[in-house]
Amino acid sequence: MCGIVGYTGSRAATPVLLDGLRRLEYRGYDSAGLAVIQPTGGVAMRKEVGRVAALARAVPPDLPGSCGIAHTRWATHGGVTQANAHPHADSEDRIVVIHNGILDNSEVIRQRLIADGVTFRSETDTEVLPHLIRTFYDGDPVAAVRAALAEIRGTYGLAVLFADHPGLLIAARNGSPLVIGVGEGESFLASDPHALVKYTRRVIYLEDGELATIRPDEIATTTLQGGGVNHTVEELEAVYGSEDKGEFPHFMLKEIHEQPESISRCLRGRVQPREGNARLGGFDLSPADLVRIDRVCMLGCGTSYHAGMVGAMAIERLARVPAVAEIASEFRTRNPIISPDTIHLAVSQSGETADTLGAVKEVQVKGGRVLGVVNVVGSTIARTCGAGVYIHSGPEVAVASTKAFTSQVTALFIFTLMLARSRSLSLHDAQRLARGLMNIPEFVRAYLASPGPIPEAVRLLTQARYALFMGRGVSFPVAKEGALKLKELAYIPCEAYPCGEMKHGPIAMMEPGRPVVVVVPDDEHRERTLSNMQEVRARGAVLIVVHTRGDDEAAAMATIPIAVPATDPVLSPLVTVLPLQLLAYQAALALGKDIDRPRNLAKSVTVE
Ligand code: AGP
Repeated sequence: MCGIVGYTGSRAATPVLLDGLRRLEYRGYDSAGLAVIQPTGGVAMRKEVGRVAALARAVPPDLPGSCGIAHTRWATHGGVTQANAHPHADSEDRIVVIHNGILDNSEVIRQRLIADGVTFRSETDTEVLPHLIRTFYDGDPVAAVRAALAEIRGTYGLAVLFADHPGLLIAARNGSPLVIGVGEGESFLASDPHALVKYTRRVIYLEDGELATIRPDEIATTTLQGGGVNHTVEELEAVYGSEDKGEFPHFMLKEIHEQPESISRCLRGRVQPREGNARLGGFDLSPADLVRIDRVCMLGCGTSYHAGMVGAMAIERLARVPAVAEIASEFRTRNPIISPDTIHLAVSQSGETADTLGAVKEVQVKGGRVLGVVNVVGSTIARTCGAGVYIHSGPEVAVASTKAFTSQVTALFIFTLMLARSRSLSLHDAQRLARGLMNIPEFVRAYLASPGPIPEAVRLLTQARYALFMGRGVSFPVAKEGALKLKELAYIPCEAYPCGEMKHGPIAMMEPGRPVVVVVPDDEHRERTLSNMQEVRARGAVLIVVHTRGDDEAAAMATIPIAVPATDPVLSPLVTVLPLQLLAYQAALALGKDIDRPRNLAKSVTVE
């Protein structure tokens, strides 16, 4: 979603700012802009709709100035126009702001400022900020920003430049992440560490309710009200900055093929097949703690919610502990009942999803316990939860989540094993499950080396006006994940239904030639799913069937059978999801879509 970059030091600011924006492109955006304080006084500003490349073309290559801010915008208030792109400035272009988040009371402030004679140049909520700061400015920039923010309700990560104070960046955070990079005689600011790694690995994470004054040689943090705050400088993880596509044409394909390794990393040191047990150190739960858990609640959005669904089903089945997965945005808005004996798991790749973070805070405010299952180290959800585990996928750049899903599911299976072992799961069954988990990376590798008739299935899907995905038990969230991938990448209308629900509505959509993707591993639901397949086939639907290798009956019913390796039935989502990832990838490729950056989507959704 929106990205922020700032620089103050002695080098030319523009190349640093543009480079930082390019590194944030993967997050999704629709316009970009920058502002640099000019040595002659004043601020040079440029904004463009579209890619950072368009902005780079619009900026004079030798633009002077060594202090500036830059932004990629993902439209919320106001359309995708040059005027609405950030930065925004006061009427004299002396105070310049970039902002991530949403200002809830912007309209009231805007009307008040208009009544006082201010002319607005955009439709954005952000533009109230420079004008409001201007009304408080009497030469002290920090005091003016503080006074303005005291009037603001909403979420923000923002950066402010004052033409009168070259070399100074002011940053403030409330609900939208900001990280400060500490260099030698230069300082950086970004909404995401990816923008900084080329320049420094030493960072300070700003927390909600804090303000920073950033100069080349000095960084000071306070509360928004001016109280003292001490931060230690942290070292960024080595994984940052390691992204390139290598031999692959798209990040998504690369990330699909990284899954044997990313799942291995998630398992490493955590599963003990001989003992039939597992350990997730970050959860810090002793067997005594585990037996006191009376319910598990997964919180997540999109793909992470689907991973949570798989985890909840595995926990109920193997640990016999009630478990649910909740869509984080719904959970937080319905005033949920939080029991102290329920353990909540916040599942998030980015660790920055606003709805998941909101759900975490809702649990915490009601005295509940929430642990993170997160990929990005040091992200807001990871830090807000305090305790949790990292899934160790490595950087996931493509907007469509693939390797994070399989690692999230793997981490939840590890937790399932711990929880189940502390209850009714026998040593023998636990050993079998643990061995099954350890074999998954090899099965994933084997499938990806020989993925079956994906192109044939893609031909059916890309000609379709609608497609249905179906599955039962743990295969239902896999079907949902497959439909989400196809929608977000290829824009093909599709939906996922549990097989049993098909007769209660979606069967009306069945007609000759309609593609139906069925996920039917060799588990206890197989027979009933085969019956559902007969029902749709009888109505002329064409079946793309993801089945266990060797299941000739399922294969024979399919127009396009896609075989995956046999696993323990409960672990099957880790292999059945793979063909669905490839179907979406290949369909988007065939239709000429922007695979790594699908339209309207953002890698981390930092607004509610
Ligand atoms: C998945 O392909 C999507 N891009 C999206 O559903 C994503 O999983 C969701 O926005 C949650 O993101 P998170 O895992 O970073 O919290």
